[in-house]
Amino acid sequence: MTARKPRPGDLEPIETASRDELEALQLARLQWTLDRVYSNVPHYRQAFDDARVKPGDVKSLADLAKLPFTTKADLRDNYPFRMFAVPREEVVRIHASSGTTGKPTVVGYTAKDIGTWADVMARSIRAAGGRAGDIVHVAYGYGLFTGGLGAHYGAERLGCTVIPMSGGQSEKQVQLIRDFRPDIIMVTPSYMLALAEEMQRQGIDLHTTSLKIGIFGAEPWTPTMRQKIEALLSMDAIDIYGLSEVIGPGVAQECIETKDGLTVWEDHFYPEIVDPETGRVLPDGERGELVLTSLTKEAMPIIRYRTRDLTRLLPGTARTMRRIEKITGRSDDMMIIRGVNVFPTQIEELILRDPILAPHYQVEITRPKNLDEMTINVERAPDAGSADAEGAGRRLAEHVKNLIGVTAAVQVKPPGGIERSLGKARRVVDKRALG
Ligand code: DLL
Repeated sequence: MTARKPRPGDLEPIETASRDELEALQLARLQWTLDRVYSNVPHYRQAFDDARVKPGDVKSLADLAKLPFTTKADLRDNYPFRMFAVPREEVVRIHASSGTTGKPTVVGYTAKDIGTWADVMARSIRAAGGRAGDIVHVAYGYGLFTGGLGAHYGAERLGCTVIPMSGGQSEKQVQLIRDFRPDIIMVTPSYMLALAEEMQRQGIDLHTTSLKIGIFGAEPWTPTMRQKIEALLSMDAIDIYGLSEVIGPGVAQECIETKDGLTVWEDHFYPEIVDPETGRVLPDGERGELVLTSLTKEAMPIIRYRTRDLTRLLPGTARTMRRIEKITGRSDDMMIIRGVNVFPTQIEELILRDPILAPHYQVEITRPKNLDEMTINVERAPDAGSADAEGAGRRLAEHVKNLIGVTAAVQVKPPGGIERSLGKARRVVDKRALG
């Protein structure tokens, strides 16, 4: 693997500024944001009035806790453009996240916002070990999803050569990786695994590809999955986090020199952790739901957005800005099986421990006799026989019982038996609503 690290002179001054300097900037930017949303977005004016707070009441960063949260439902209620704080004519780009049901969540950007986004993405790619002159293969989807275009503009801003491949067409992806020899790939970790399989199918030795760095995000993935991908492809696998409502990818980024969680680009996004049940702000170090406030966005500033992502805030290491611990689940993904909370990533950890099993899995939940039943569908590794698979399935069921505390049926499928994702993997199929 590479020993790539950004050189000290490459960093922006704010990345290493003192906490005092950073916090003064955050407060000024927060007050600017609050004034603008109160004046320009009826939803926020109403919500602040209902909570009996005015932007002027926020005199410190801690005062942010006086303000109401914003949720996905608020964005849906103001569909499509009523969360915008600028006239529609100043919005140069729209993105949207599909959501599982109903109306998509719409977000908008001014020309300056697109520039800010490119800046934070360039900073993210550099933190992951990228530099000007690198070739960057972007296999995040282009379109309404923020992954492709977000990565694209950031890589261009950093001075890289960008290959805007988007998701899908795995055979073509691999041909281009072989021919164009990119240094960096930006893709969901689950689709990286599908591309690795396609490379093997084409007879490519995974250790000798040109890829040095993978910048993986848009879905939860475990530290064990990192080890697996790094060993399989001889590359550094680095985590990137973001969400459309806040800007897209580039809200937080893991630094290659520490690989110890993701640095939140706090000069643009203010993080809080709250108790998901009560909404109370928790001190740094305690685990809860991440809440984010934008500090510089023009078209669609967002105040105290409930991300549903579970993590904790940690002090800075590679940068002065704080980190979030790797996000291994969202409250929405949490399965409650006969009263026990289970995240798909907990199951992933156990699957990856067993060399007989491949890292392709999907969990199905049913409710046949008014009782939840969980079935883990997982593939056996290509070089494992079906006889070994039976034992591995039994072991997995035992580990799930002993370590997570739920009873699960395990079905070990032959290689290729689990649907491959082209973007975000669908880890849970909940059939309970269907009866
Ligand atoms: O997934 C933006 C993105 C694109 C991030 C490319 C990283 C790379 P949405 O489609 O709005 O935006 O989904 C956001 O995805 O709230 C998390 O639940 C999840 N997510 C994103 N990055 C990570 C990550 C993009 N590194 C939602 N680890 C977020 C775990 C992640 N979950």
